[in-house]
Amino acid sequence: MIKKTITYSLICLLSICLLACSNDDSSSSEVEAADLVVDINNPIHEIQPTMYGIFFEDINFAADGGLYAELVKNRSFEFDAPWMGWKHLPEAETRFNTVNELTIVRDANNPQNPRFVRVDKGDETPEFGLENEGFDGMGIKNGEKYDFSFVARQNKGNLTVKATLIDTTGNIIGSASTALNGNDWKTYEVVITPTATFGAAKLQVTFEGVGQIDIDQISLFPQDTWKGRKKGLRKDMVQLLADLNPGFIRFPGGCIVEGRTLDQRYQWKKTVGPVDQRETLINRWNTEFAHRPAPDYFQSFGLGFFEYFQLSEDLGAEPLPILSCGLACQFNTSETVPMDQLDPYIDDALDLIEFANGSVNTKWGKIRASMGHPEPFNLKYIGVGNEQWGQEYFERYEAFAKAIYAKYPDMNIVSGTGPFSDGEMFEKAIKELERIKPELVDEHYYRTPDWFKENATRYDNYDRERFKIFAGEYAAQSVQTASPENRNTLECAISEAAFMTGLERNADVVYMTSYAPLFAHVNRWQWTPDLIWFDNLTSYGTANYYVQKMYSTNPGTHTLSIKRDGENVTGKDGLYATAAIDKNSNELIIKVVNTLGSKRAVSLSLNGLSKAAEGSITSLHGDDAGVFNTIDEPAKITPSESKVMAENGKLNLQMPANSFQVVRLKL
Ligand code: AHR
Repeated sequence: MIKKTITYSLICLLSICLLACSNDDSSSSEVEAADLVVDINNPIHEIQPTMYGIFFEDINFAADGGLYAELVKNRSFEFDAPWMGWKHLPEAETRFNTVNELTIVRDANNPQNPRFVRVDKGDETPEFGLENEGFDGMGIKNGEKYDFSFVARQNKGNLTVKATLIDTTGNIIGSASTALNGNDWKTYEVVITPTATFGAAKLQVTFEGVGQIDIDQISLFPQDTWKGRKKGLRKDMVQLLADLNPGFIRFPGGCIVEGRTLDQRYQWKKTVGPVDQRETLINRWNTEFAHRPAPDYFQSFGLGFFEYFQLSEDLGAEPLPILSCGLACQFNTSETVPMDQLDPYIDDALDLIEFANGSVNTKWGKIRASMGHPEPFNLKYIGVGNEQWGQEYFERYEAFAKAIYAKYPDMNIVSGTGPFSDGEMFEKAIKELERIKPELVDEHYYRTPDWFKENATRYDNYDRERFKIFAGEYAAQSVQTASPENRNTLECAISEAAFMTGLERNADVVYMTSYAPLFAHVNRWQWTPDLIWFDNLTSYGTANYYVQKMYSTNPGTHTLSIKRDGENVTGKDGLYATAAIDKNSNELIIKVVNTLGSKRAVSLSLNGLSKAAEGSITSLHGDDAGVFNTIDEPAKITPSESKVMAENGKLNLQMPANSFQVVRLKL
């Protein structure tokens, strides 16, 4: 039994360190041509519309400082250290000056958001106030509009609040002011239009005049957000998700669901309703990795459960929330709720279903409606626990499942299998799950590229009577699991493409798949590799992103047989393949992967196709398997598309070294 006190990172390293990453495919000479035979007329398994989805977790500053477009860090002074992210102006003297003072006040009547700043301004000192550092600065774009807002009340005198954006040398790149009027709390908002583009701007908030005000919720958002929603999400980052055409979105994680302690678990009820009433919480990745500390990583929950449901709806993806099962992260504290005190946790699940699907006359449906969405979100899936193990997990899972099915018999419940995809812990979990028979079980694979190639057959002999698989978190690790040296190399991406041929071939068993983690800020990440990287101004897809995209935008509706010498194409001489038909568009879709470091010819015999058929080939490849995209060179590896024509049921492919190709033909 693993000692529960062992740290998460350590166990990841221990578990994986033996699996050294090797690339034995380095031959440079062309290999023998391969003949693949596709049977077009006999669809085999239905491919679920949920097959290719997204895993979202607030790790690597994916939410605050990332997708959630708020530019001010610690806008309501609720981080453990209330001034974190803020600097007093003028520096040094401010806090010890009794004429002009800034004080943190704690209001016990507002327990969700107790702190605000009292500004006492006794003389006309200019440039007195605060400076916010943003998330490694703020990404500001020339000519765009930014909403600067705050809530405040004027207790004495007359103060004007001025917002100024500066670059690192102190040059002003935009400003706006507003005078306060009245001694009741009000929201004030002004628009700033910057005159320069800068990725590391800072926001100065200064107070002019003499008097006393209280101020809170100091915020700066671009107006140009996803769908133009006020205080919404970063457009470029959501667009990358939309381009994936995801079948589902799993949220909010990941280990963040569990928390390092139960108090730090994700509690969805605290993430809905008015944003200023969403209680700030430390992010569990704040202190997880000593080699990547992030002391300023907190969750504002401006991106909360309503916004996750809304995003799922925007992208046409099934929402898949995962909830705490009453067990804090077992790699950390393993804090456990006694079974006879589990009801509030189970109620969270039942209430969440009501929040998503209930009529506006129900308690939680009404809250959804008050947030602007009277129609239900049509939630069909819910997950109980993340990477949990042991009897303590399964008995809690069963209690959840019993209560959920009693009230919502049509709900699909996702169970975990623990952090590992094989070994004793995994086998024990599978035994328990065979008894419990959940609909879907979540497997995680953070393994070497070789493991991915070798496991393309993982589900070929899977017991068809068993539960369905949600390949909920996977990513090939170029060095080892959770190593800060991991890179999103082409080799990793191609090995994932090879593995995914096996997921697709077994679409009667595998219902959902998602790469993890999704996002990482180039300067502020904790975990690598990640699907999409971003800085304060831009974002880009990795080679792994393009593999996901090539699958998710070419899913097909049914699998077809594709054989080489009468066998599935599962890695002989580095060749992998899967085939599908899209019955809606009447197209044939063939995915072929060459993991060798040399080019090869592949001939396709399309049995059942007598006429000429035109279409396209999308190809992702590169001579150097170790290459990866970066923020400075985001397009080193991107897919290219060309036209093709199959004649007399034949099509010849020239597959470059390290390549993944998707052929799409109109039938
Ligand atoms: O994806 C990063 C972490 O890896 C997830 O939070 C966890 O579920 C897994 O161990």
